[in-house]
Amino acid sequence: MKISTLSNFILASISLVYSQDTSLKEVKQAFIAADIPTDLTITFNPSVLLEVTFPQVTGPAITLKAGVQLPRNATAGPPTFSIVGKAGTGPFVVAAVDPDAPTPQAPTSAQIRHFLGGDFTAARRDSDKVHLLTNESVAVSEFRQPGPPAGSDAHRYIFLLFNQPAGFDSQVPTVVNSTTPVSLFNISSFAATTDLGNPIGGTFMLVAPDAA
Ligand SMILES: *[C@@H]1O[C@H](CO)[C@@H](O)[C@H](O)[C@H]1NC(C)=O
Ligand SMILES: *[C@@H]1O[C@H](CO)[C@@H](O)[C@H](O)[C@H]1NC(C)=O
Ligand SMILES: *[C@@H]1O[C@H](CO)[C@@H](O)[C@H](O)[C@H]1NC(C)=O
Ligand SMILES: *[C@@H]1O[C@H](CO)[C@@H](O)[C@H](O)[C@H]1NC(C)=O
Repeated sequence: MKISTLSNFILASISLVYSQDTSLKEVKQAFIAADIPTDLTITFNPSVLLEVTFPQVTGPAITLKAGVQLPRNATAGPPTFSIVGKAGTGPFVVAAVDPDAPTPQAPTSAQIRHFLGGDFTAARRDSDKVHLLTNESVAVSEFRQPGPPAGSDAHRYIFLLFNQPAGFDSQVPTVVNSTTPVSLFNISSFAATTDLGNPIGGTFMLVAPDAA
């Protein structure tokens, strides 16, 4: 390979690499700048970084940086989750919601529940390391790929990590089960009902409709 070809190749590869969250302060600021605490009625003071990683058909998986816009076809998922920081071994609950459905200007069907799962655990508790979360129980709500309707602005897809309280698994089916619509969900009232407390981590992405 000629040097010029090689450097073009490296540049093209770099442009496809997405950076990820490295600072709790920046994640919190990104949430505030995007009006997320207000729109979700949550208190967001993260103590750990939540890494949300989307596998790709070709090329490396994409880990979100709070506020990144992804092409819809990169978000098929299901994503995997990791924690960076001192959070203990769990269990944890992960939830994902879209507060912008059908449009950010008139979110009459929001929030849409895009994921809800419990019993995520981390194998080790060292701080400052990346801990992949693993789970052996089926998600309460399986991951739904973003599908903002044609003509809408990009939607926010927000992932939140909670400590899982004792009794969550037995209580959750009375609140969310296979008959519960994904629309008109409210993560703040769900958290209050199931004693999740405030989220300990989170991140989000923007996804626009497919071009017509
Ligand atoms: C997504 O669509 C873009 C543009 O059409 C294409 O270049 C890319 O390969 C697609 N990615 C996947 C994962 O299908
Ligand atoms: C584990 O989490 C994934 C999302 O990462 C979810 O799709 C799945 O239902 C969960 N449970 C099992 C047993 O895989
Ligand atoms: C299923 O969830 C709904 C709320 O969507 C609730 O009203 C109903 O009681 C739950 N079903 C069971 C068997 O707990
Ligand atoms: C969600 O529930 C909270 C109470 O927990 C309420 O203050 C808020 O207005 C609700 N949000 C929506 C969008 O209905």
